[in-house]
Amino acid sequence: MERLGCKKVREQIENNLKKRCELFVSKGNRAPSLAVILVGHDPASETYVNNKREACERLGFLHFDYRFDEDVKEEEILELIMELNGRSDVDAILVQLPLPSHIDERKIINSISEKKDVDGFSPYNVGRLMLGEECFIPCTPKGILEILRYYDIPTAGKKAVVIGRSNIVGKPMALLLMQKGIDATVSVLNTKTRDISSYTRDADIIIVATGAPGTLDSSMCRDDAVIIDVGVNRISDSSREKGYRLVGDVDYESFKSTSARLTPVPGGVGLMTVTMLMENTMLAAERRGN
Ligand code: GUN
Repeated sequence: MERLGCKKVREQIENNLKKRCELFVSKGNRAPSLAVILVGHDPASETYVNNKREACERLGFLHFDYRFDEDVKEEEILELIMELNGRSDVDAILVQLPLPSHIDERKIINSISEKKDVDGFSPYNVGRLMLGEECFIPCTPKGILEILRYYDIPTAGKKAVVIGRSNIVGKPMALLLMQKGIDATVSVLNTKTRDISSYTRDADIIIVATGAPGTLDSSMCRDDAVIIDVGVNRISDSSREKGYRLVGDVDYESFKSTSARLTPVPGGVGLMTVTMLMENTMLAAERRGN
């Protein structure tokens, strides 16, 4: 088995971004700025939001943090987004998901200006991705393409299987893999798919994004498959200081004696998502045109 660790991938992209930001600022532009909105106190979401702030600090980006209690009214968030949409000192807006059930997630996402929608979740950006036109590409699938590129994994003419059809990962991942220039042949599986192995055992590249540990093991794959594990699941573990450990959606151990190449959890896709958010924020700043 080969571990496709992502620390070096992130380092390379961050170094380039840092230089790009310095050059941008040296030309008299304000540094790129990202506004992050977090509702509630979900520990995983708080960790993600903190990671985003730290990434901004590492790269010299500006950062605005907005936090609301769980019971905040939808209108209050919509008002803030309207304000941020109009502010010339804000290039990018990210609302951390999931939101509490009394808030209409779609309504919130739709209210973000397409020019500042660095998650690429608004209908405008989703539509342009579908058409293969310039847009903000959702960060996790974009990061996965960077991993494939860094490790020289060919995609043209390859069989790719995406397990999971979420708007955040599965659907945009499938669209990207089938785009001209990437040219994979893509199958997208969902919870109702019968006999998952009948798809995965032929696959060159398998992207697993189900949120369910143990979705894929070595008995379901070719010996030389490339496997990208998007899952981040907390499993209780009393031997750990925090009381839990992180596992992906893939049974990593089962691949130990194979020739497969796998991204680990932690240290894999998760590192790339934040880096791609920074790249999208840089792009938003460059496109603002001042
Ligand atoms: N929650 C889990 N993944 C994401 C993401 O990519 N963007 C946002 N905004 N929230 C998330």
